[in-house]
Amino acid sequence: MASHLHAASQAITAPSASSTPFAAAANALPSVSTPTILVSVFIGLLVLEQFVYRQKKQGLPGDRWTIPLIGKFMDSMNPTLEGYKRQWDSGELSALSVFNIFIVMASSNEYTRKILNSPTYTEPCLVHSAKQVLQEDNWVFLNGKVHSDYRRVLNQLFTRKALSIYLDIQDSISRAHFAKWLANPSKEPSPIMMTCRDMNMETSLRVFCGDHIPTHAVREISDKYWLITKALELVNFPLALPGTKIYNAIQARKVAMRWLEDAARKSKVAMAGGSEVTCLLDAWVKELTDGDSKGKKDYSDREMAMVVLSFLFASQDAMSSGLIWMFQHFADHPEIFAKVREEQDRVRGGNREKAMTLDMLDQMPYLKACVKESLRVKPPVTMVPYKALRAFPISPNYTVPAGSMVIPSLYPSLQDPEVYPEPDRFLPERWLDDNSVANANPKNYLVFGAGPHRCIGVEYTTMNMAVALGTAAMCMDWTHHVTEESEKVQIIATIFPKDGCLLKFRPRDS
Ligand code: HEM
Repeated sequence: MASHLHAASQAITAPSASSTPFAAAANALPSVSTPTILVSVFIGLLVLEQFVYRQKKQGLPGDRWTIPLIGKFMDSMNPTLEGYKRQWDSGELSALSVFNIFIVMASSNEYTRKILNSPTYTEPCLVHSAKQVLQEDNWVFLNGKVHSDYRRVLNQLFTRKALSIYLDIQDSISRAHFAKWLANPSKEPSPIMMTCRDMNMETSLRVFCGDHIPTHAVREISDKYWLITKALELVNFPLALPGTKIYNAIQARKVAMRWLEDAARKSKVAMAGGSEVTCLLDAWVKELTDGDSKGKKDYSDREMAMVVLSFLFASQDAMSSGLIWMFQHFADHPEIFAKVREEQDRVRGGNREKAMTLDMLDQMPYLKACVKESLRVKPPVTMVPYKALRAFPISPNYTVPAGSMVIPSLYPSLQDPEVYPEPDRFLPERWLDDNSVANANPKNYLVFGAGPHRCIGVEYTTMNMAVALGTAAMCMDWTHHVTEESEKVQIIATIFPKDGCLLKFRPRDS
């Protein structure tokens, strides 16, 4: 390459270059070798990387220089709540970079809500690998009108009528799992993380797909989905090479999709044959054929399967986190648990076998306040990565560059001491007083996000958590082996107790 450049300069200075003083000086220079040029280019790119980072960051808090090439990749591999808190405490908006992806993190309620409510400037990107795992054309990546049209159809799957069908499934599956837990009690307290996740996965799969999925496939999907959860780091190694987490997640998704497409096909056959609605897929097919839903009427098996995949994605992880923390909160607060039990006994008329109904749930304000508070104290989702579609003037002083990741953080709003005095404490009572500061500031309750992409599963989630914990309170007692790590958080996409939540269950005493 050096000789080629040299030839070009000769062409410009011809015909008698050697006679000029410049050429004489050039000839006197030592010739530049290829490795030297490569090293120079590499150093130039590193300098450019720092220059671009600082240009984008402008005056935002954040590292003055980014670690070459990888940025904060090592931190994002092992994220900690303490690390996030440091970032949030550094400013209402702050900057970082991972693998040259420029990231703006918002910590205040105002900026967080602004990002969530600006669909012309931002769209959810979940985490960086999500499009590879869930597939580009999954409805969760739609934005604007096409998203709201799609979502209007899906909202039909969470009406009170549909929820009451799901409630029966949730009730019977949680009872079956509790019976199993009690039949094989561990001698010592043991981590309930995976036990709870298994229950939640079976509940979700049966609610979404009913018996259109065989029992052995429930186990297979549940196991495979764990590989998907593990791949959901904020930013992954960019290439899906065999052995990487993203590669494993993509293979897992392929297996899950095969079963889910098969379930969609079977549901259509069952509904065409006049069967009863027994699950979400059935409710969807029935709505399309009988209902007055406007717009698209025909969804392929693959499209339906991708919707269920997105629901599973949210429910198996966030809901498992929510359930585990609630088991822990009840064990650590016997006075609160006693009130829950009193309410359960009263509404169920002392009948421990009585299945939950939506009307009964309406008479359980204390249990519902516990669900709301448990999700606030330990919000499963601490932040929701979005992407800036174009330059986004988020404040008078700062514009998020187009293409950046922009992350609204939910945790700081949920722990705001002005709105939630003693924010670390589990205090369900704060929701029972209509005039409490918590109830006066609903904008702070960001557990499920806000704006056009706010969680579609809110009612489903709160209902499932109430059914599971209400039923557990009716039939079991449990104790928590508290360790130094019980209140600390491990982040596996969502947050879990660092010690896995060590519980010991036994049949209810009295
Ligand atoms: C404790 C449990 C859950 C929590 C904490 C949670 C939280 C969230 C949050 C924070 C978002 C992002 C909202 C935004 O961008 O503003 C979201 C979106 C979503 N959630 Fe949930 N979620 C939970 C359970 C579920 C369940 C069980 C389902 C399944 C039915 C579900 C389905 C979804 C979907 C499909 C979206 C994307 C909605 C859209 O883009 O329109 N979630 N969730």
